[in-house]
Amino acid sequence: MSFIPMKNWYMMRESQPGRAGLASWSCPSNIAIVKYWGKRSPQLPMNPSISLGLEKARTHTQMAYEKREGLSAPVIDFRFEGAPAPAFESRIAAYIHGLLDRLPSLGSCHLSIQSSNSFPHSSGIASSASSMAALALCLLEADAALRGKESFSMREASQLARLGSGSACRSIYPGFVLWGESEAWPQSSNEFALPLTEVHADFAQIRDAILVVEAGQKKVSSSAGHQLMEGHPYAAARKQQAAENAVRLKGILQSGDWPAFIELMEEEALALHAMMLSSRPGYLLFKAGSLAIMELIRHFRKESGLQLGFTLDAGANVHLLYRGEEEGPVTSFIERALLLHCEEGQVIYDQLGQGPQQVKA
Ligand code: PMV
Repeated sequence: MSFIPMKNWYMMRESQPGRAGLASWSCPSNIAIVKYWGKRSPQLPMNPSISLGLEKARTHTQMAYEKREGLSAPVIDFRFEGAPAPAFESRIAAYIHGLLDRLPSLGSCHLSIQSSNSFPHSSGIASSASSMAALALCLLEADAALRGKESFSMREASQLARLGSGSACRSIYPGFVLWGESEAWPQSSNEFALPLTEVHADFAQIRDAILVVEAGQKKVSSSAGHQLMEGHPYAAARKQQAAENAVRLKGILQSGDWPAFIELMEEEALALHAMMLSSRPGYLLFKAGSLAIMELIRHFRKESGLQLGFTLDAGANVHLLYRGEEEGPVTSFIERALLLHCEEGQVIYDQLGQGPQQVKA
């Protein structure tokens, strides 16, 4: 990791308590089992979604903050993996400026933000969830320190992360996480995510091998995809399907029913891509390699009797989910049959994670 030395910031914090400091968080990415697709302003989902928090695919963000006399708006500089990143910087600046009503203490601050991902740059793994969640936590920590508050709530962090990137609100919690109103959870909300605690032990060792079919940036962004759900001919049916699947998944998670879990997960992945195929204009994000992998997984499942299944994000890469106990045969299946369909044989072996971590320097 190539962050600037932070010793000076610590010295500054010591000498200016309540005026300067350093916030540092590592946040995992997440993969949705029930997919969020379609939204309305301000970043509110068309349907409930449920995800699995990962462990290894993480963003680490460090933010040095300092109150400066005479500033009427925050001055922000951003570096990604040690280098200036102007496109990210303007997105982050717009995000932070939009939060000043909630975090007024940051209005007169100089913010120096550095971020890096644990997964290879441009591996096609979306980092908006992990990066916006890590940034939201840094901003809240700084705001709390500047206002002399002991702490902040994770619910608030989830709400702030959501405004940066919808799926980021789920990265604030470990394990299975729900976002969006669902009749099965009276406390659920479109504003923030909710960690799901009633999960059968058979899902505790869940693994996710991310098969990198295409490492570059995808052709159509998720934001553009969400927008295409407005006026989509199947929008109402998709909304209903996701709402029903969220309720069904609740029962499946409680009972530990792996076959039903796999069936629902694959249905959701294919439904997400069906929405893209049938948008106006329609588009296609999976590749021949993604299709080959999905077919091979189904064939191997039938042949071996093992519990494994796939899901897709809004891209060509395939997530293969399986039980930790079956790591041996699944890993040899991946190496024997799937790696040849991956760009440069890339696979990231991840698992159900521990959630965000505050990083002490
Ligand atoms: O959070 P966004 O705006 O990047 O959208 C993410 C949408 C999917 O990844 C396709 C599904 C989901 O629920 O994460």
